[in-house]
Amino acid sequence: MNFNIVTVSGDGIGPDIIAEAKNILNVIGKKYNHTFHFTEKPAGGIAIDTCGCPLPEDTIEACKKADSVLLGAVGGPKWDHLGGNDRPEKALLGLRGSLELFANLRPAVLHKQLKEACPLKPEIIGDSLDILIVRELTGGIYFGKRGRTEGGAYDTMAYSEKEIERVLRVGYGAAMKRRKKVTVVDKANILETSRLWREVANRVAKDFPEVETSFLYVDNCSMQLIRDPRQFDVIVTENMFGDILSDEASMLTGSIGMLASASLGETKRGMYEPIHGSAPDIAGKDVANPIATVLSAAMMLRYSFDLEEEARAVENAVTKTLDDGYRTADIWSEGMKKVGTKEMGRLIAERI
Ligand code: IPM
Ligand code: MG
Repeated sequence: MNFNIVTVSGDGIGPDIIAEAKNILNVIGKKYNHTFHFTEKPAGGIAIDTCGCPLPEDTIEACKKADSVLLGAVGGPKWDHLGGNDRPEKALLGLRGSLELFANLRPAVLHKQLKEACPLKPEIIGDSLDILIVRELTGGIYFGKRGRTEGGAYDTMAYSEKEIERVLRVGYGAAMKRRKKVTVVDKANILETSRLWREVANRVAKDFPEVETSFLYVDNCSMQLIRDPRQFDVIVTENMFGDILSDEASMLTGSIGMLASASLGETKRGMYEPIHGSAPDIAGKDVANPIATVLSAAMMLRYSFDLEEEARAVENAVTKTLDDGYRTADIWSEGMKKVGTKEMGRLIAERI
């Protein structure tokens, strides 16, 4: 089959890691007889420098027409002085919003080979860890009305029932294929939007009688993630809570350099990106860990192209590479073989 992929490498280590993910997709293409056409488009800091705005219209249009989008990272100190709407991060929000990617899947998986890298005690972490955070991505305080008043400022969190329901359904659907537990995380002791989330969740839960639903306040959840992370299967939560909890959960897996994500909407087209940032200090130095991006490409194969076998082939190759003792600097420990970005990509490709 033929697939058109827009790559948005972005800033910092973005180009380093996207190059490796493209390579892997080409290897998959050869092995399974698919053709992936890549078109690179600017967004983030590089777009500010070359086009004068973080998210050119042409990039949005190309992404809308593509079968899927693979994104590296945006941002860096060079653009930190810019104000709200001119910042590189605006490109991310713009893409999420204009492609209507309301459900952000962030799996926090601890590969057993990296158990040493997990900061928790072995008895807490057990054999492995596999949590899926489903973060609402196009609503809430990120997209609400904001502004300045005389001597003040405000941001608003607003949700419609429809926005809540559709992301909850993604979470429950995912739970059905996993351990059938959904934890809805909110701040219902304070926020009216959270109380609406609970109402809608209780309604949606009726359609998934096999799934066990529980509710947790976000502050408690952030504590429980450290105290007993294995209690969680799928966490569904609003935009900003999901942003914060997914960073916390990523640390349980040893390195933020390992975690992939998928942003999905009503159609098959999604946007796939590592959850880490642009790490400008190591950009272009061949040290960044490409695994999160490679695993994001695997998610693209699975969710956008329905190529489950191919997705597994990528994931197994990553596991095999770790089994064989290869590590980039961020996940390296005594006795392991330290490799750079390109070599890690090559080793994974070789194992496919
Ligand atoms: C993320 C990032 C973004 C977010 C920033 C860069 C806008 O932290 O994808 O988690 O807050 O959504
Ligand atoms: Mg974040």
